[in-house]
Amino acid sequence: MRTCKISLQVSLSIFLYTLLSTPCLSSKLCNPDDKAALLQFSQHYFGNISTYWKSDDADADADADCCKDWEGVKCDRHTNRVTTLSLSNGQLSGEISSALGDLPYLKTLHIRKQPNITGTIPNSIVKLQNLKFLRFDWNNLSGPVPSFLSQLKKLHFLDLSFNRFSGSIPPSLSTLPDLYSLHLDRNQLTGSIPDSFGSFKLTNISIYLSHNNLSGSIPTTLGSAHIIDFSRNKLTGDASFLFRNNNISRINLARNLLEFNMTNVEFGFGLNIINLNHNNIYGSIPLSLATLPQLQSLNVSYNHLCGPIPTGGGFVKLDQSSYIHNRCLCGVPMPPCI
Ligand SMILES: *[C@@H]1O[C@H](CO)[C@@H](O)[C@H](O)[C@H]1NC(C)=O
Ligand SMILES: *[C@@H]1O[C@H](CO)[C@@H](O)[C@H](O)[C@H]1NC(C)=O
Ligand SMILES: *[C@@H]1O[C@H](CO)[C@@H](O)[C@H](O)[C@H]1NC(C)=O
Ligand SMILES: *[C@@H]1O[C@H](CO)[C@@H](O)[C@H](O)[C@H]1NC(C)=O
Ligand SMILES: *[C@@H]1O[C@H](CO)[C@@H](O)[C@H](O)[C@H]1NC(C)=O
Ligand SMILES: *[C@@H]1O[C@H](CO)[C@@H](O)[C@H](O)[C@H]1NC(C)=O
Ligand SMILES: *[C@@H]1O[C@H](CO)[C@@H](O)[C@H](O)[C@H]1NC(C)=O
Ligand SMILES: *[C@@H]1O[C@H](CO)[C@@H](O)[C@H](O)[C@H]1NC(C)=O
Repeated sequence: MRTCKISLQVSLSIFLYTLLSTPCLSSKLCNPDDKAALLQFSQHYFGNISTYWKSDDADADADADCCKDWEGVKCDRHTNRVTTLSLSNGQLSGEISSALGDLPYLKTLHIRKQPNITGTIPNSIVKLQNLKFLRFDWNNLSGPVPSFLSQLKKLHFLDLSFNRFSGSIPPSLSTLPDLYSLHLDRNQLTGSIPDSFGSFKLTNISIYLSHNNLSGSIPTTLGSAHIIDFSRNKLTGDASFLFRNNNISRINLARNLLEFNMTNVEFGFGLNIINLNHNNIYGSIPLSLATLPQLQSLNVSYNHLCGPIPTGGGFVKLDQSSYIHNRCLCGVPMPPCI
């Protein structure tokens, strides 16, 4: 800012020169270490900086302030350290640069919607001990979901969905004390859901594991959550214990191989969306479901259920598509019970 005042006092032409050559605008908020890491990150992909964080002339590039001039980069107002790196314009290709590990103040790291980003998650990411929001979704990443992610103790939100991650889910993720949203859906994960997933600290966590190849039964330790989406896997066994928690609002277990008697299942009063289509569920639909205050949608199609469909409550809105392909469900909107 001092440069600005002096140039104003001296003369207009010097002021204009100063303005054009931008020392005033680029009073260098960007921390040099952060800038170096970002340049290395950019070089990793492009061989030079001008392609990604480009401006119109080379001098300005060298002079650029990463806190103000670079798309997707944000700094803390007081410390001027880089706290956000958010890239989603599909231009990156290759592996995720390990230079990211040298941005120690990052809270938000989004590298998403980059179909040519391949390879695994670099180990250096565990150096980002301030990270709260990590989104690597809609890339083409592969390899295991690394268990070292559980060392990012401040993580609130982890999204690795829509990639090609394989192998099993690391049980240690459940040790993340502040995690409230976990998205591992749309990958090629195998093995079973870890028993440890019953012990997440936040009881309002949302867990998305759909569209994988997960097998085995759902761990009975799994109690409280806000949203559970385990649809389109190969889960087997009894899931009846999952519904009774009052904190759960949405459960999607569609297109699995679950097999249990629904007749006496208890349902938590917070439930508003239940999707169970394409499983091997038998028995009947409990009448108590009609008393759930927030029920908006229930889909039990393609199971082996039988008996009268409850009336009233959320059931008045449901059409036949919620019930088709069962053994003998009857009553509105299906044919009358005899
Ligand atoms: C550096 O960036 C410029 C401008 O986009 C481009 O013309 C040049 O080919 C790049 N050089 C390398 C080595 O990638
Ligand atoms: C991604 O890779 C494909 C195939 O190699 C290529 O055609 C395309 O230009 C790449 N996209 C970008 C943004 O690099
Ligand atoms: C992802 O990478 C694999 C192999 O590296 C490649 O065959 C595939 O086309 C890529 N997918 C997309 C959507 O780019
Ligand atoms: C699941 O595994 C089968 C073979 O066992 C494979 O054909 C299929 O593509 C896999 N699905 C996913 C989503 O990975
Ligand atoms: C989950 O619970 C924690 C602690 O009770 C609270 O701070 C947070 O806002 C809640 N998150 C959501 C998504 O409900
Ligand atoms: C429901 O959530 C509240 C607040 O997040 C928590 O204190 C309580 O233990 C949870 N209930 C169950 C049955 O897990
Ligand atoms: C389901 O459970 C109910 C209640 O215990 C029982 O009456 C019924 O026979 C069971 N249905 C089947 C198909 O096992
Ligand atoms: C219920 O699920 C079936 C099978 O996926 C689907 O065809 C139908 O549209 C669904 N109904 C509703 C109301 O979501």
